[in-house]
Amino acid sequence: MFKKPEIKLQTTTLWEYPSQHYGPGVHGDKNYVGATPSWIIWNLLQRYTRPNDLVVDPMAGSGTTLDVARELGRRALGYDLQPTRPDIFRVDARKLPLENEKADFVFVDPPYSTHVDYSDDPRCIGKLDAADADYLAAMDLVCREIFRILKNRRYLALYVSDSFKKSQAAPFVPLGFQLFGVLSKLFKPVDIICVVRHNAKLKRGHWHKAAEEGNFFLRGFNYLLIMKKETDSPAPTRPPAGKSDKKPGKQKNNFTRGEF
Ligand SMILES: C[S@@+](CC[C@H](N)C(=O)[O-])C[C@H]1O[C@@H](n2cnc3c(N)ncnc32)[C@H](O)[C@@H]1O
Repeated sequence: MFKKPEIKLQTTTLWEYPSQHYGPGVHGDKNYVGATPSWIIWNLLQRYTRPNDLVVDPMAGSGTTLDVARELGRRALGYDLQPTRPDIFRVDARKLPLENEKADFVFVDPPYSTHVDYSDDPRCIGKLDAADADYLAAMDLVCREIFRILKNRRYLALYVSDSFKKSQAAPFVPLGFQLFGVLSKLFKPVDIICVVRHNAKLKRGHWHKAAEEGNFFLRGFNYLLIMKKETDSPAPTRPPAGKSDKKPGKQKNNFTRGEF
């Protein structure tokens, strides 16, 4: 029988775990179409948050972010146009009811074009085709709201896949790159993680046959775009060059920033 491996920190830019959820706990709803793998959120919260921090998910879906955050002793706030449970508030992510600079960390997994029908609400961003300028315009507004509610020098992670629809004249839309462009107008890019997908469709032989015969590729990875809010502030994020109290010879390893 398949046994989930113990959850541990990912240390490269290629993230993989063989199950949607880690551990014995319940995180979101595994039957919710489009649920985020909980082990991704666990890894992000370990790195970018501390106990009692406020974690916000403006498109909370089945509540995976909220469950992982609370399990780790963080506070959590979730919004969505189509709440699936009472602790998620019905809100359009383009107009969040939170004061400026309240969140210590924001995670968001938005719709990637029209692949999933999330609700009948006409404001659902999942009703906008990725190839249509309206999709990016809507996501631009969501990113601006995230910027507004996030505290300075804190982090945001956005999980997204490129969009591919064989039936369309322009089947491929590089959503990962496009949303990176939207975010980097506001935030400082920290890293781009490639997350291996374990989508059920990828296990179906006929999908692979169609990809081979039709000369296209199935989506094998999602992007995890990690960004930091850094506005002009008198408080520096790290000691100015030459003022560090760490002597170069005392570093644990010989890596420099450029070598990664
Ligand atoms: C990929 S799902 C999120 C999955 C979630 N992270 C989870 O683990 O269950 C995207 C969500 O965005 C929501 N959504 C779409 N447009 C929205 C909007 N304008 N404001 C808030 N939520 C929106 C959908 O209702 C859907 O729940």
